[in-house]
Amino acid sequence: MSPTVGELLKHKEALITVFSVVGATLFYFFYRLYRGRKYHLKELKALGLYQDNTKDVMNEKTGLRERRVSSKIKVYWKANKLIFSKYNRAYGIKNFENLKPNLETLFGKKIELITHEKQWWSSQPKIILHTESFPEKFLLSQIPSLTVGQLFIGIDALMNFIILEVIKNFENTLLIIGPKGSGKSVLINSIIRSFFQTLLKHNRLNEYQLIIADNKGTDFIEVVDEFKGSYYQPFNLGDLRELVGRLRQHKEEIEATLAFLKANKISPRHWDEIRTEDTKFYVPPKLFLVLDEMKAYFGSGKSAPKLSKDPTADELARKEKYDLTQEFGHLVNFFAEQCRSTGIVLICASQSPNKSDYDYPDFINFPILIASQTNAQQSIQLIGDTSLNDNTLTRGKFVIRDEIETRRVLAPLSIKIKGDGDGSK
Ligand SMILES: Nc1ncnc2c1ncn2[C@@H]1O[C@H](COP(=O)(O)OP(=O)(O)OP(=O)(O)O)[C@@H](O)[C@H]1O
Ligand SMILES: [Mg+2]
Repeated sequence: MSPTVGELLKHKEALITVFSVVGATLFYFFYRLYRGRKYHLKELKALGLYQDNTKDVMNEKTGLRERRVSSKIKVYWKANKLIFSKYNRAYGIKNFENLKPNLETLFGKKIELITHEKQWWSSQPKIILHTESFPEKFLLSQIPSLTVGQLFIGIDALMNFIILEVIKNFENTLLIIGPKGSGKSVLINSIIRSFFQTLLKHNRLNEYQLIIADNKGTDFIEVVDEFKGSYYQPFNLGDLRELVGRLRQHKEEIEATLAFLKANKISPRHWDEIRTEDTKFYVPPKLFLVLDEMKAYFGSGKSAPKLSKDPTADELARKEKYDLTQEFGHLVNFFAEQCRSTGIVLICASQSPNKSDYDYPDFINFPILIASQTNAQQSIQLIGDTSLNDNTLTRGKFVIRDEIETRRVLAPLSIKIKGDGDGSK
């Protein structure tokens, strides 16, 4: 016969004690399980970060007493920082650098930076692993105010702003490579917007001419409109003719000015130094030249079209288009290679990371590369390591390799653009 409720209540205290003990044990058990998972204690132990037992043991073979090194671990998260405040004493920051790939796999997060901090109560410093902390979305309205000549690229994983200096550091040629929908056009839109809004704010909009080449013909309508730029679709022969004509003229003006400067022994560090009211000679204006969908016109494998004896209008048009495209490629190479100090800004973007997919331009002339996801082999060719082989590099996340370092970057979202990045018109 089962006990009645009345009988059970007589042993109330005993029951409460039993439930509390069982509850506390279960809580502790699950807490340990959870904690162990979150901090991967087993794996950290396997990496040698700590040993949790101290023992003097007898080595049976040698007959000598051996002391087992023991250490405790204290590891915790603070926002995006993983902090080790107690670990194997033999370890220092270098060991953590070496363990970086293991720790990244273990915690499933990119480690952006490793620093250390003194702890007053210990001779052992805290090791701080700063992991990536990109916000869900980063908007153009959140960027700082710029000075003229700065290109705003985005934020790095530690929320630092990444800003390139066109005038101060000659960071004026950018190559953006990423698969469709990776956010190239959005990034370019943001760069243009922040750059030209800064000019506008300082009443200097007339200093740069915005020129866009983009076969899609949709992604830059607003900025071209707002900042009085020119929009060309190079697949159209008329557009290509006009665009190449303008660039050809710019090159001629630059060459003439170069010759003049040389003859007069003037050597400005940057041409902005001679773009002043007092300058008595002509200095060409500055171009802000954007080439999106580059593979569409510089894709390799197009051989020169042959003309028949009595060429048709169609043949002539194809020949002219071919010749103009070649010239266009040479011009872009010229601007990328030789115009660092003239003030030109050149931004080229395309989908394929494969250099052999292009006749032009020469990737070598682009010290600043902003790249999105690709395979390990292409990644090594482009930036020297495999960090582009990463499927978290999507929608506005890139790796930027400038002349100093390689960093992950999140670009600001500027405006909704048509086409939605699927390459369709
Ligand atoms: N910085 C960003 N933050 C959030 N979402 C973004 C960001 N950049 C792009 N996206 C999203 O990704 C979509 C595709 O972007 P975008 O059109 O720029 O890609 P793309 O690389 O130019 O593609 P395609 O090669 O097809 O032209 C955008 O419509 C937007 O929804
Ligand atoms: Mg695009």
